[in-house]
Formats: sequence, C-alpha cells, structure tokens
Amino acid sequence: MSGVNEIRSTFLDYFRRNGHEVVESSPLVPRNDPTLMFTNAGMVQFKNVFTGLETRPYVRAATAQKSVRAGGKHNDLDNVGYTARHLTFFEMLGNFSFGDYFKERAIELAWNLITKEFGLAKDKLLVTVYHTDEEAAGYWKKIAGFSDDRIIRIATSDNFWAMGDTGPCGPCSEIFIDRGEHIWGGPPGSPEEDGDRFLEFWNLVFMQYEQVTKEERIDLPRPSIDTGMGLERMASILQGVESVFETDLFRHLIDAASSEIGKGPGKDNVASYRVIADHLRSSCFLIADGVLPSNEGRGYVLRRIMRRAMRHAQLLGASDPLMWKLVPALVREMGQAYPELSRGQALITETLKLEETRFRKTLARGLGLLADATETLHAGDMLDGETAFKLYDTYGFPLDLTQDALRQRSISVDLAGFTDAMERQRAEARANWAGSGEAATETIWFGLREKLGATEFLGYDTEKAEGVITAIVRDGAAVDAATEGETVSVIVNQTPFYGESGGQMGDTGMISGEGVAIEITDTQKKANGVFVHIGKIVSGKAKVGAAVELKVDHARRGRLRANHSATHLIHEALREVLGTHVAQKGSLVAPERLRFDISHNKPISQEELEQVERMANEIVVQNSPVTTRLMSVDDAIAEGAMALFGEKYGDEVRVVSMGTALHGQKANRPYSVELCGGTHVRATGDIGLIRIVSDAAVAAGVRRIEALTGEDARHHLDEQDRRLKAVASALKVGPGEVLSRVEGLVEERRKLERELTEARKKLALGGGGGSGAGETETIAGVSFTGRVVTGVQPKDLKGLADEAKQALGSGVVVFIGASDDGKASVVVAVTPDLTGRFSAVDLVRVAADALGGQGGGGRPDMAQAGGPDASKGEAAIAAVKAAMAG
Ligand code: SER
Repeated sequence: MSGVNEIRSTFLDYFRRNGHEVVESSPLVPRNDPTLMFTNAGMVQFKNVFTGLETRPYVRAATAQKSVRAGGKHNDLDNVGYTARHLTFFEMLGNFSFGDYFKERAIELAWNLITKEFGLAKDKLLVTVYHTDEEAAGYWKKIAGFSDDRIIRIATSDNFWAMGDTGPCGPCSEIFIDRGEHIWGGPPGSPEEDGDRFLEFWNLVFMQYEQVTKEERIDLPRPSIDTGMGLERMASILQGVESVFETDLFRHLIDAASSEIGKGPGKDNVASYRVIADHLRSSCFLIADGVLPSNEGRGYVLRRIMRRAMRHAQLLGASDPLMWKLVPALVREMGQAYPELSRGQALITETLKLEETRFRKTLARGLGLLADATETLHAGDMLDGETAFKLYDTYGFPLDLTQDALRQRSISVDLAGFTDAMERQRAEARANWAGSGEAATETIWFGLREKLGATEFLGYDTEKAEGVITAIVRDGAAVDAATEGETVSVIVNQTPFYGESGGQMGDTGMISGEGVAIEITDTQKKANGVFVHIGKIVSGKAKVGAAVELKVDHARRGRLRANHSATHLIHEALREVLGTHVAQKGSLVAPERLRFDISHNKPISQEELEQVERMANEIVVQNSPVTTRLMSVDDAIAEGAMALFGEKYGDEVRVVSMGTALHGQKANRPYSVELCGGTHVRATGDIGLIRIVSDAAVAAGVRRIEALTGEDARHHLDEQDRRLKAVASALKVGPGEVLSRVEGLVEERRKLERELTEARKKLALGGGGGSGAGETETIAGVSFTGRVVTGVQPKDLKGLADEAKQALGSGVVVFIGASDDGKASVVVAVTPDLTGRFSAVDLVRVAADALGGQGGGGRPDMAQAGGPDASKGEAAIAAVKAAMAG
C-alpha cells in the first residue's frame, strides 16, 4: 500500500523518466490570472504557455499542484464531508505537453502509469470521451484494448474542460474505476452517476482552444495536453479505502483532532471530523500563501472555510479553540512536500487561534438563536432571510454556515429574503456616506466601493500581478474607456500597488495590457479599501473589463520598504534613549527619505541622536527577519505593540515585529513591535544603513527627525566626506587635522582682529591714518582737532573722539569716519567747559549738512550723525571750523 507522499513521488518520477520537467506547485493565489479566485488546477500556472504568450525552456512538464475549489467557478465547499471524494483543498497531479505530444501519447502515458506503475486492474477501469471525439475513443481502443461499452461518450460540459469563463479549454477524457457493487452509484452518464461506486480519478484534457470572451473561441497555436489526477482519490484507490478521508494522510489528521477532542469519530459525527480535516488543509495552505481572513473576496472564502470547521469543532464538543492545535499534525504530513507550511507555521497557528477565539464568542449565541428560530420548522421548511441575515451580520455566520447547520434537518434558507435584508443595510450605509458632506469626487469612491467591493491587495507578497480593470474615473466621473494622453484613476479587482496610508506613500509603476499602457504616478486608498491608481495613459485605450498586468516600480518600492522599516527602528530607539513618553505624531515614508514627528519637548542633544542612530543600526546589522502577524488589537497591545494614537484600527490588525533587543528590560525579545499595515523589508539587513540627517522643533512639544537609508544614506555620507576632504585640502592638512587647524585659524583671526583695531585707533589718534588738518589748531580761541579717518568702525568713532577730547583737556573734536562703501559717519565732542559756547549737536548738524546728510543728535558734549558722501569729509571739517569762527 502506498502512502500519499509515496504516490506523489511515484507520479513525478514516472513523468521525469518520460522526459518531463518536474515543476513546483504555484501559489494558491494565482499571479497570472486575475479572473480566478484560487488556483483550481495544475494548468493554471501554464495558462500563458498554452496560449503562446509565454515560453518555457521545456515542452513537457509534470507537477503536484496545490488546488482549492471553493468560492470560484469550481466550488466543492458544500459537498465536503458528505461525500467520499469532495475536498476544498486537494493536490492535483498533472502532466503537460505544450505543443509536443497530443492525444495518443497522453493516453498511452496515462494507461502505462495506472496499469503498470500503480498496478490497477484493467477490467475495473473505464473512460469517458467527449461525444464527438472519435479520435480519443479510437486511441483508447487501440492502447487499452477497451471495447465500446467501456468508452462512454458524454455530450455535456463534464467532458469539455474550461478553467474559467475564459482561458484555454478543450474536450477531455476522464478515467474511472469501478469500486464494486457494494457501493451505491452508476457509471458516468447514468442517473446514479453521483454515487461513489464509479470514481473519476484522472482527467485528460486535450487543450485545443482558447475561450477569449464568452462568445469567442479560437484555436490554440499548438494542440496541447493538460491532465489532472486527484492525488487523494488515487490514494484511496491504492489504499483500498472507500473514501479519501480514510487514506493515511487524512486518518492522521482526524486522529489528531479526535485525540484533542477526547473521542473518536462515530457514525453520527464522522462528517464533522472530515470537514475539520479538509478545512484545516485549505485554511493552512491559504494562509501560507498570503490570504488572511477578511470580510470580502478571498479573505472571506477563507473565513467561511475556517468558521465552518469551527462550528463542526463545536458540534464535536471541543471546549477550546481546536484548529490551531492541529497545525503540527498537518506540518508533519505535508511540510516536507510543501515547505511554505513549515515556514508559515507561526502565522498559520496564530491566525487560526485568533479567528476561532473570536468566533466562539458569538458562535454559541448564534446557534442558540438559530435553534429558537427553527424550533417549529420541519424538513422541507425554510428559515426566513431576516434571521439568516441577523446571524450573518451580528453573529458572524457566513450564509453557507447557516445552510450547513440546517442541512441535516433538510431546512433551507430564504435566499431572496437574505438578499433583501442585505440590500436594506447597504442602502442605509449609502444614505450615510451620501449625507456625509464629502465632495462629489470623494463620494464617487464610496459608490464604486459598494458596487465593486474592496480591492484585493496582493502587494505584501508580490510586486507584479494581473488584474481586471473594474472602473475608470476621468474628471471625477466614471467612464467605460479612456484614451492616450488622458489622466485617469483606475480601479482593478486586485493589485500589488500599495495605496497611500499610514504615512507610506502610494506605489508608482505601470499598468499595461493588450493595447494599453498606463503610467501610474500615485496610488491612493479611498472609501475604506478601494485602491485608486492614478496616472496617464501613455498609449492605447483603457477599457473597463480589460485584463491588465500591474507592475510596481520595484526600486522605488524597495526604498519605501527600507524607509518604513527604519521608521519603526528609529521610533523604538528614540523611546529607549529619550523615554517612553515619546510617541509618534505623524510620519512620512517617501522613497528618498523618511520623516518622523515625535512628542518631546526638549531639544535632542547630539549625543542622544547619535545613540539613537547607533541602536537602530545595531538592529540593521542583525539582519533578522521581519515578521508580520494578524492579531486582535487587544492582544497586540497586550504584547507591547505600539499602536498609533488617533489611527483607526479594524478588529484585526497586522503586527510587524523586527529585530531582537540587545539591551535593557526587553533584552532577547523582539526589538520593535508595531501595528502597521505598511510594506516592509524581509530582513532588517535590507535597510542597509540608517542615517539621521536632521532634528528640529516643528510645533510646541513636537520634534521632527529626518533620516535616510540604504544608498541614500551612503550618498549623504559620501557627500559629507567629499566636503571634508575638500576643506582639508584647502587647509593643506589631512582630514584628521581639520578641526585643530580650523580652531587654530579662528583663534589667530581673533587675535589679528584685536591687533588691527588697536593699530587703527593709534593711527587715528596719532595722525597718518587720516588726512586733512591733522594737528591741533586754534579756532575762535579754542583748541580744535578735526580728522577724516578710514578703517575705523562707526561704533569705535565715539571712543576715539572721547580719547582725543581727554587729550585736548579743553577744546572741540570732529572725527569723520569713511566706511568701505564711501559713506560717512561723524562725531563731534566738546569739552564740558566749552559747552556754553559750542553745542556738539549744532556742530554735528553743520558737518552732516556738508556730508550731504541731515540731522544728527546727541548731547551738547557729544553728538553723532551720518552722511552719504565721505569724500566731502574735509569740506565738513572746514564747515565746522567756519561755524565756530562765527
Ligand atoms: N484541468 C483539468 C482539471 O482540472 C485537468 O488538469 O480537471
């Protein structure tokens, strides 16, 4: 008997030996297909190879592909647990030919594998073909030796495979095994075909066409092969068990669940165990691939799956949250084949625990309400839509959970009533935002939000994805199309572009598709989750409904990531250095720098800044992984996560942790833990380097810090180094001696200035420095000194006049200073014994007049004035003398 892991490797080895490249499973969230909710088949990752858009270095491939069939075109959710073969998560084993072999070889490879390698009994096997596909029927006759009754012709879509509404497709041939009369069911095409007796386990698709639109189907460039074998079904066949849930892998998961619950599965509750085992797999794999529970889109499908499982855990009597405890069992079974499970184990565990803890709070009360509401109902009755909506809205019961809960009693739900109740609530919300006074350009986003739902953000995991344009807004109005040269806002169903929020700027990049290229210069988040890509159509025509590729400017995003993560590290370092009163007051994470405002009412010293920078860089050098978890706000805060004041948080928040604290109370614990929806580096080393470049006060009690990271920080340092070297070379010393050299020069200059002032004074007093009548003369019987001096500051002129007055003992002094720009200042001093005869104020006015100026003022013994024309200095002295002489 072969275990699941063995069957997988036998399959892959067989095709490897037959010239196939073994390719890894692609993620459950398709990167290359915007129309699909989840990867639902092995061919999804090769879609563009089939259509010729993409080429690979091989023409034959084989994979074991993770697949989810819930919430999309292929949806098995409702059946899981109640049939022997339906699963929401399964592994699809497949072999592919891209224009290489076709029908004959595909049938031959399949036949040899199942009969020779797997040893299935030929007489138990039968196949279906599409009713017009005589070619395939002929090969089955030839290769397997089947008679006509073992080749069943089917005319329905069951034998025409399509991935979704569009994409590669073609007729197919399915291989069935008859599991024996003891199981109920009939062959395909018979009225009993839904029974489990005839089990389909391998589908060979002869890919011939591409469905381009609903109406248009074209030939693929080269006929190709896509096959899909359900690994779990094959395991049930090879292990001789009736249901996929009895295979080794599921038995181990169910054992883990029953040992937690304390009782094993019995006839009455086996469905619950099966639901739990299946939903555990889909939940864990979806979380590992970046889906987190939410109220819309993929996140809501995940939430529905998780909550469905949780109700069954409750039914089984689990007293505590159960699902998270089963994660180790799943990792044991599948972690080797899918390492993303082990890598994501912590996130998976916490997400499950959080969801179940929260849901249990309302689950019991919701089930009570449901029991009351259905007490008088019987099989065939219907639960009213109002109650189903209340369960949905107030108790968090997804509609299908309510349906599942009533399934055993054959009670259905009034779906129209449910939709009416939902619509009433929407109308209320609409009235609220319509009346909120937002500008018309803003209300348009609310309208689009309601119509289209929130945009799925893929940008935590990828910078490139495909999407479908769901709306185009031009000049404030929604339009169906826009053309080259126009500036538009584009909404896409899913996007890797980050919409500006939490201080981090929106992404830029390109949106392009058939016949259109839009250069995106900004992305904004509007109306609670609509991502609006703003840009200019650089070529072609953008149309609503067009499939496009979205590519974020990778280098710019890299800088944004580094700056955002650095903000967290600086924040924590500031709290360590300055104290825990430091709280973030706003931030800007731009590509070229980061800005960070904090509450702190003192200047930050140079030493403190250096310490902050050093601590933050210590964590950079650790190069430790940056981890993100989803938590309830309360739990996050209890764990010490920093929440930003004034930010609105949902019930669940992303918590970003980085680094390991080296010092202090938190030593060996995570260094920075913050609630944050931004994008971050994978490991702190990716920041490269943090450099704080400025700190200033911006408002009372708020300081602003600016910093650079990575290359920008390095450039900044380079620039500073260059400047230092230039200064050193100008000073003709080594960079190490610049400081002492500059200090020496400053000191020397001070000394020289002092000496110069002294020398000028001496000159002014002793003659030589000035001109004109230098010597003391006698005018109107009193001693008189008059001088024009240069190089003396106006402020020193008074001191000079004073000194000259002292020297005279009794007399009148006039000093005229000529400044470098040719203007004059004049001081007149009169010794006290003469102020009765001459007023310094009168005399200075005479001088000012002669210098082309006006006025002047002071006291009778000392007065000052100015004039525009120092060349008239001599004339001014003469004028004073004349005035004295009367
Ligand atoms: N695409 C086909 C299927 O999903 C075969 O792989 O069944």
